[in-house]
Amino acid sequence: MAIQWYPGHMHKAKKAITERLKSVDMVVEVLDARLPASSASPLLAQLAKGKPTLKILNKQDLADPERTAVWLTDYQSRPNTRALAVDATDKHVTQKLIAACRELLPHRRGLDKPLRVMICGIPNVGKSTLINGMLGKKSAKTGNEPGITKSEQRLFLADDFWLYDTPGMLWPKIIVEEAGYNLAASGAVGRNALDEETVALALLDYLRRHYLPLLQARYQADLSSSPHWLDSDWLECAGKKRGALLSGGRVDYQKAAERVLTDFRDGLIGRITLETPNQWAVWLKQAQQREAALKAERQARQALRKGQVS
Ligand code: G4P
Repeated sequence: MAIQWYPGHMHKAKKAITERLKSVDMVVEVLDARLPASSASPLLAQLAKGKPTLKILNKQDLADPERTAVWLTDYQSRPNTRALAVDATDKHVTQKLIAACRELLPHRRGLDKPLRVMICGIPNVGKSTLINGMLGKKSAKTGNEPGITKSEQRLFLADDFWLYDTPGMLWPKIIVEEAGYNLAASGAVGRNALDEETVALALLDYLRRHYLPLLQARYQADLSSSPHWLDSDWLECAGKKRGALLSGGRVDYQKAAERVLTDFRDGLIGRITLETPNQWAVWLKQAQQREAALKAERQARQALRKGQVS
């Protein structure tokens, strides 16, 4: 499934991030705990290479706790990296974030050496909710520095802890097919950019293989036959159970798909995570092989054309 992306926008984001990175000590990357790898920005990984990073797995209330623990361990094992799982209701998120950042860079302390942190995340991971929660009733104090636009705010979480917000990041070109589906299922991708039935079928296919009991419970499926159902059978069942019907009692598949996606996004199917570090490694490898094959094809075509011209 192709998800639109915007080269012009990417260029702007790249410039802004590159500029900001020059004057910060570390990066906080907000991720969606239900799809940590898919919601990471490959652009940021490329630009912030080597900078200490805190990964925040937000929306942990919707994610599978066992898998969240696996992701945290995976991130913690990476050099210069810490990871935290939080959700919007977490009252202690500011203290946790500051403590985790200070652990990474203990020498940046005091008014003469404030810890300067850039926070970023692709849309819908909950970055604004998180920042608003951290600021509480205080309004965002913003720095009046040259080169910092109004939309790029400096927030003072403590006198010697400055957080720079980096808005406007979109996802770069997505090469991992599963990442496209997972982002779409999570609601990160605008409705017009995707076919909901395709996304719902991909989601149901994953859920039937990894979260069968949750699906069975949500849609009151027959316990003996449903383990053999395919994604389309599940869509049919969900449509019937969730009242997505046309006149005559036939299932309205578009409506059924919308209901399944809403159920997932609202956590009504259960606490679910759509990828593990191992699954992601396999998907990434496959995607890279696909990209390499496409590139080789393109080059062969170009070489052939050149040969025909000369
Ligand atoms: P963004 O700045 O990264 O684009 O994301 P934003 O904060 O706008 O959050 C996107 C959606 O995710 C919002 O829901 C928000 O309420 C929800 N959200 C953020 N953090 C959490 C969390 O930790 N747990 C849960 N369950 N939800 C979270 P929305 O439906 O788009 O809007 P609304 O419900 O706030 O009206």
